[in-house]
Amino acid sequence: MEDFPYFQLPDRLLGWYRQNKRDLPWRADQDPYHVWLSEIMLQQTRVEAVKPYFECFMTALPTIRDLAEAPEDVILKLWEGLGYYNRVRNMQKAARKLVAEYDGQMPADFDAILELPGIGSYTAGAIASIAFGLPYPAVDGNVLRVLSRIEKSCDDILKQSVKRRFEQEIKAVIPADRAGDFSQSLIELGAIVCVPNGAPRCGECPLAALCQAHKEG
Ligand code: ADE
Repeated sequence: MEDFPYFQLPDRLLGWYRQNKRDLPWRADQDPYHVWLSEIMLQQTRVEAVKPYFECFMTALPTIRDLAEAPEDVILKLWEGLGYYNRVRNMQKAARKLVAEYDGQMPADFDAILELPGIGSYTAGAIASIAFGLPYPAVDGNVLRVLSRIEKSCDDILKQSVKRRFEQEIKAVIPADRAGDFSQSLIELGAIVCVPNGAPRCGECPLAALCQAHKEG
């Protein structure tokens, strides 16, 4: 559906997000390192499982420089039980690059973030928008599910071309002063309302009035 009213998403989602967002450890501030670590941990792991790992990791390695300099056995121990250990190995490679090239800081630049090991378009968009307020979309599998449903699209969301189209639709309506909250509102809607596997809570959804899948049952 080409003419879905994407321009109506920000108002509806931002109001809903303000009232319904979960209080999560990585939402206490917008520190780019915190946003980055949380997004990497959340890629293959559920929120409830991530929480204690996030807190321990930040206590043990509070800065990007600490991560860059940590012995490998320390970072693997902090990740133990989360699985997919290349996630943390890549984070350390990226941290070393940030120390070498950016004085240990995450640059406020989408293309530079995207060049870091282990960071793809979703994670770069999440960091750019949530930590720096830059107008980039953060479209992961959960957000793709939400967008497919509101459009009642039958396109294959595993196709890069389909993902790119949804990213462009979102990018075009990102509110200039609320890019981070807008990214998180879409993520949050997918996590707590427009959930997978059949039982979306349409009664609580701020997009129900627009949603083509809801309209057609
Ligand atoms: N899943 C991916 N990113 C997330 C975030 N920032 N908050 C909650 N769940 C998420």
